[in-house]
Amino acid sequence: MELVITDNAAEAGVLAGRIMADHVRRGARAIGLATGSSPLGAYRELIRQYRDEGLSFAGVQAYLLDEYIGLPVGHPQSYRQFIRDEFTSHVDFDDASVHSPDGNATDIPAAAAEYERGIAKNGPVSVQILGIGANGHIGFNEPGSSLRSRTRVKTLTPKTRADNARFFEDDLSQVPTHVLTQGLGTISDADHLLMVATGSGKADAVAAAVEGPVSAFCPASILQMHPHVTVIVDPEAAAKLQAVEYYRFAVANKPSWQSF
Ligand code: GLP
Repeated sequence: MELVITDNAAEAGVLAGRIMADHVRRGARAIGLATGSSPLGAYRELIRQYRDEGLSFAGVQAYLLDEYIGLPVGHPQSYRQFIRDEFTSHVDFDDASVHSPDGNATDIPAAAAEYERGIAKNGPVSVQILGIGANGHIGFNEPGSSLRSRTRVKTLTPKTRADNARFFEDDLSQVPTHVLTQGLGTISDADHLLMVATGSGKADAVAAAVEGPVSAFCPASILQMHPHVTVIVDPEAAAKLQAVEYYRFAVANKPSWQSF
């Protein structure tokens, strides 16, 4: 696992975007996308590189981590709509190549299995960008999620629903209670996991994920079991880490031949 502490949140986003762009330029078949505010800086950098530097997503498939169950198609906070509004509609992504779990399926387990089949067929996901919930969730894998879980329904914790109410006019009653999410096993199948966390509200979760025990109670701690992980944090999100000096030393002395 490589831990990169940037000077600020804007730099974290640019670096994450550059790493994703490198995967696309090297011929990624599929990339994994996430919602929430954490990846937005990376998407802005990808859009900039598309406009200014000829980066192209033609022929690439995109897989979203998760989706709310029961939000009407086109709802601005459905993750399917969010990712189009914030990212894929601004670049040359073929809309049919941007996939998300079907939160309106009548048969939810069948929709979950279908999503897994799609990733297996079009993958592997070359790089998966991730945010982290304040309680250590990734995707919508809440504490207690099996470390080998696959795409399935989850019930959101009260904390996550409260955190996400800001996207629903601060009205908790509008936040769905159930979601479809890639499992921790599904996420772990990606070649490279790239986590972005900024702000003091993420400091405890980052410390638990990176330096705490591997535990279903901190789902993001599954990153410790993956062979290729980059965690990009700003100083506020790094504040509770113990080995900050070592992480900074390792980045400063990174061999010139080694990419992220
Ligand atoms: C949501 C998403 C996660 C995201 C998390 C953190 O619950 N399902 O993928 O990482 O929120 O969101 P933010 O980046 O806005 O803090």
